[in-house]
Amino acid sequence: MASSFGERLRVSVYGESHGNGIGALIDGLPAGEAVDTDALARFMQRRQGGRAGTTARREPDIPEFVSGVTDGRTNGFPLCIRIANTNTRSSDYNNLADTPRPSHADYAAHVKWLGQADMRGGGHFSGRLTAPLCAAGGIALQILARHNIFVGAHLSSIGTIHDDPFPMLPDSALFSEIAAKAFPVISDEAGVRMQEEILAAREALDSVGGTIECMVTGLPAGLGDPMFDGMENRLARVLFGIPAVKGVEFGDGFALSEMRGSQANDPYRTDEKGNIVTETNRNGGILGGITTGMPLRFRVGIKPTPSIAQPQKTVSLPEGEETVLEIKGRHDPCIAQRAVPVIEAAAALTVLDVLLCDGRFPEGGTS
Ligand SMILES: Cc1cc2nc3c(=O)[nH]c(=O)nc-3n(C[C@H](O)[C@H](O)[C@H](O)COP(=O)(O)O)c2cc1C
Repeated sequence: MASSFGERLRVSVYGESHGNGIGALIDGLPAGEAVDTDALARFMQRRQGGRAGTTARREPDIPEFVSGVTDGRTNGFPLCIRIANTNTRSSDYNNLADTPRPSHADYAAHVKWLGQADMRGGGHFSGRLTAPLCAAGGIALQILARHNIFVGAHLSSIGTIHDDPFPMLPDSALFSEIAAKAFPVISDEAGVRMQEEILAAREALDSVGGTIECMVTGLPAGLGDPMFDGMENRLARVLFGIPAVKGVEFGDGFALSEMRGSQANDPYRTDEKGNIVTETNRNGGILGGITTGMPLRFRVGIKPTPSIAQPQKTVSLPEGEETVLEIKGRHDPCIAQRAVPVIEAAAALTVLDVLLCDGRFPEGGTS
């Protein structure tokens, strides 16, 4: 089904950017799990616009639990989240109905739905649809944390400026520290240069892309299935559903292809408790699609925001004539910084689903 994913934990995202509201339906959550709405609100705030270098469209994005939560705990029934759209400015999109924005989904949607799709504000393809994904993922993050499974992410690059990478064995305190920052990086010095890069792109009426590194710690070895249902496959399916994600690599990813086996292999050893671990983690905690017990590590590549204020070439759809498009409206010069919690949400939902599928998740509710 479109806009849905998951096997035991099934998540559907619905709505359009300028419609009445957006939301998510989550089926299969373990019953009896506490939902900390304050922590959820803090998590969702990390995705919001309104800060330096982000869109001026700012909405409270308070998730309303239509069903699935009783007295602050999951009740086992489908959990329906609704988020109101309160800050639409549809007139900004009047000129886009017939002149597709280069690199946005306007043209593809026009062809697929015969011009009927409500593409104001990007319609169902808007980055706004990542708010319900964050609401669903924020709940999954809380559940995982109670089982000592932690998910964290940071901006690993903006343009050609790079943050420090995660250490091989990060602790959850590092994830919390980054999550508390207005600009989610490990090295604040790199963060300053990244923000300058974003502002320079904005001043040039342009946009800039970036990458996000994400890790999941505390996962047992042996999760996932071979070939087409591996942890990599399942994560990639969800990550590529996030607008503007154009690349995903696990471990050292493409860089592995430039190494010799002697450099790329992760040698085994036993730790002080007798567990089998690897000395390096270039494969990102997954081999054969199955977790190794080392932290899971992946990066996603986020393209520059398609909507830029410079005049761009396009084609007017009714006449099929070449024309020049000038985009109005409120757009981020860089999407990547707002996408950091979205990547964490996607990872949390996927990992929780795989744990439930593999019967590795003790159900019954914890506080
Ligand atoms: C958090 C977030 C915010 C976004 N904001 C914008 C925006 O302001 N303007 C824009 O043109 N695209 C924005 N996008 C990206 C588009 O939604 C996306 O590029 C488009 O749907 C085409 O999909 P694709 O890039 O995955 O192929 C945003 C994406 C995310 C995740």
